[in-house]
Amino acid sequence: MYRGPRGTADLLPSEQKFWRYLESNAENVAERFGYRRIDTPVFEDSGLFVRGVGQGTDLVEKETYTFQDRGGDMLTLRAEGTAPVCRAYLEHGMHNLVQPVRLYYFTSIYRYERPQAGRYREHHQFGIEAIGDGNPAVDAEVIELGWRFLSGIGLQKFTIQVNSIGDFNCRPTYLGELKDYYAKRRGLLCDDCKVRFERNPLRLLDCKKENCLALSAEAPHSIDHLCGECQEHWDRLKGYLSALGLLFNIDHHLVRGLNYYTRTVFEIQPPVEGSQSAIIGGGRYDGLIQELGGRPTPGIGFGMGIERVILNLREQGISVPDQDGPKVMVSYIGDAACKEAIKLASQLRQEGISATLAPSGKSIKGQMRHAFSLGTAYAIIIGDNELQKGTLILRDMGKGEQQEATLAQVKQILQG
Ligand code: HAM
Repeated sequence: MYRGPRGTADLLPSEQKFWRYLESNAENVAERFGYRRIDTPVFEDSGLFVRGVGQGTDLVEKETYTFQDRGGDMLTLRAEGTAPVCRAYLEHGMHNLVQPVRLYYFTSIYRYERPQAGRYREHHQFGIEAIGDGNPAVDAEVIELGWRFLSGIGLQKFTIQVNSIGDFNCRPTYLGELKDYYAKRRGLLCDDCKVRFERNPLRLLDCKKENCLALSAEAPHSIDHLCGECQEHWDRLKGYLSALGLLFNIDHHLVRGLNYYTRTVFEIQPPVEGSQSAIIGGGRYDGLIQELGGRPTPGIGFGMGIERVILNLREQGISVPDQDGPKVMVSYIGDAACKEAIKLASQLRQEGISATLAPSGKSIKGQMRHAFSLGTAYAIIIGDNELQKGTLILRDMGKGEQQEATLAQVKQILQG
């Protein structure tokens, strides 16, 4: 027997209510903030992620699903949402539109990771990207949108973590200081961090191993090394977040795992701390569009893990609205009535009334039990008597009462 691939999940009918609810809430919040939906292909030219996300990142080095297609092209399954959206922004000349261009997506993401609770090989993100405006007001807007989404669905006790990792002017000096600091303590680093020291020293700051945590606690802070412009951006962002009433913590170790970030980086984390805990991760990427061949264009956005949102909804005991089942079940006794039942169900559906046919081979009592478990509001019963008279029996499942009625009367009640 085949099983679903490791790290993937089937979204069964009983869970669909979460997905519909979250997708429609995501759409509502995003559209309330003026964002418009974009969908990009499930695979892209592999070079897009190598250029966009960057060599030396875990994502590009170890986690992409990359393959050669039958024509010889190297393709990668969508490993994150930002680079594809920026590629589409450039490809479709969106720089000619009024800036910033505000876009959102609700999409699947593929990463070859070690599966565990909250970490999968196929996961889904609600993401937003605001491209073409470097004002820190947009940073505050993006953080606020994520926050409003989470609070709108009833989640509580989340914290906003922010940091600034500077830009191409000031970061080299900071990285120099950071490397000096770690060079003197290199022997104490874990094996992964010894590699990070060479390839991606910022990531030294967010290693969760005990020794490395003790070292990063004393490491120099990026916000103490910002150039004038980055400092102003950072100060204004903090002011805007406060003006919006959004409480935030400054996390000096928040650097994020993708190379495109500049200035603002942020995460929104649930109450229980853990390495997979970030429910939202994002930041500014003012060099990405240029890296992908465009003119210098600022951008900022976030990705929110939908599976993690669902885990947190469950943990906090928050229920979501049930999905409606069919309104009516059409039951019948005997072959002649079966034909009438098929025709009647078809006719009701064409008139906009959701209808399902009763299961075959069951007594009327068994059929009513079935209607009850489906949660239909009504059942229609067609028996020999009704066939001869040209009438129907309509049963109100909630009240447990039934009446004989004409087709017109039944339709009137069902449409009411
Ligand atoms: P990311 O931090 O890699 O950022 O992912 C964003 C969110 O997706 C995470 O905070 C987490 O909730 C969820 N997530 C990530 N990996 C997994 C996984 N393996 N299983 C389950 N959930 C996961 C990005 O992808 C950036 N593109 C975000 C961004 C948009 N930055 C700017 N714009």
